[in-house]
Amino acid sequence: MDDNNLPQKDLIKKIVGDARGAVGIRLCAIGVDLGIFEDLAKNGPATSQELADRMNLDERYLREWGLGMFSLGYLDFDKVSRKISLNKEFIPVLVEEGGKFSQKGLIEILNSSLLPYHELLNSFKNGGGINYDKIDKGFWNGIDQTGCTRYRHFLVTDWVDKMPELKSRLEIGSVTFADFGCGSGRSTVEMAKKFPKSQFFGFDLFEPNIERAKKIALDAGVKNNLKFMQWDVSNPLTEKFDFVACFDLIHDMIDPLEGMKTIRKAVKDDGIFVLMDIKCEDDPADNEGPMVPFMYAMSLHFCMTTSLANNGAGLGTVGLPEAKVKEYCDLVGFKTVKRIETDHPLNSVFEIRP
Ligand SMILES: C[S@@+](CC[C@H](N)C(=O)[O-])C[C@H]1O[C@@H](n2cnc3c(N)ncnc32)[C@H](O)[C@@H]1O
Repeated sequence: MDDNNLPQKDLIKKIVGDARGAVGIRLCAIGVDLGIFEDLAKNGPATSQELADRMNLDERYLREWGLGMFSLGYLDFDKVSRKISLNKEFIPVLVEEGGKFSQKGLIEILNSSLLPYHELLNSFKNGGGINYDKIDKGFWNGIDQTGCTRYRHFLVTDWVDKMPELKSRLEIGSVTFADFGCGSGRSTVEMAKKFPKSQFFGFDLFEPNIERAKKIALDAGVKNNLKFMQWDVSNPLTEKFDFVACFDLIHDMIDPLEGMKTIRKAVKDDGIFVLMDIKCEDDPADNEGPMVPFMYAMSLHFCMTTSLANNGAGLGTVGLPEAKVKEYCDLVGFKTVKRIETDHPLNSVFEIRP
């Protein structure tokens, strides 16, 4: 057999491609976290020295990074002037916050979630998992950024339109909407902005997320119809709401069934539970598409592992397919589960009623 056709050669090619992808994300994260893309977008092409002066960063590091980013195809490099530059068509992807095409969140999530590596190896050997206190702050920045894009460009502009009763009651007003596992509150803030006559409440277990959510709401000027509170959704609430939503909460929970019980009790009998989770198949072996490896990686580095750290169910990132949604709904007393057709590549949305 010709050496070039050996299966080992194909595998090596694949590894080289994956290595390029991995370092691409790492170098992109440096550009995002230090604001280098932002500077290039705002102030234009620069040599590494000019960039160092503009940004008060070390020239030698910037030179190495700039050439690396050029080799990866993210930046341009002029051999005569030695200036690096960012194609303005790339600004919506690498610089804009909350833009429809923004990928800053994906970059930050991937780069930061890979950090507690030795704890992960220990979990493979000894079971258990990794708690939130070991998760890098950059991960939450990434969750915030992906949420910002998703809720601005999908939730309030598309998904809500596909649930006409929810939309019209929120428009008329005087109804309540609770967002469980609200994270940094991007979904709650977008909803509160869109429906100023209704009242919105965001609950999350993790206090730093609640603090961030309050700041985001303040910066967005949304204060009259929105409140954030720290709360573990496994514990029952006394209040009832017209609408309850969970955006990427249930598959992360230590005890998803307890969470579903709280939700059922919290939704009024004529209310609606909006469940957004990760789009996935009933048999995980049937999951297909370019983002599937990313989902398993996220499961290992966050979703499954933070739940298992607490003897949780560890459903994992692709652990809440439609069959499981229906099983939980049945167990806690929701009667109808309707999948909302969306063209989002990562998320599925269900309209669920008591
Ligand atoms: C993947 S994040 C999603 C955050 C947000 N909904 C979004 O889409 O950006 C999951 C969130 O659920 C929260 N969470 C996990 N378990 C929880 C529980 N038992 N009660 C309340 N929040 C919880 C986490 O703190 C985290 O903010």
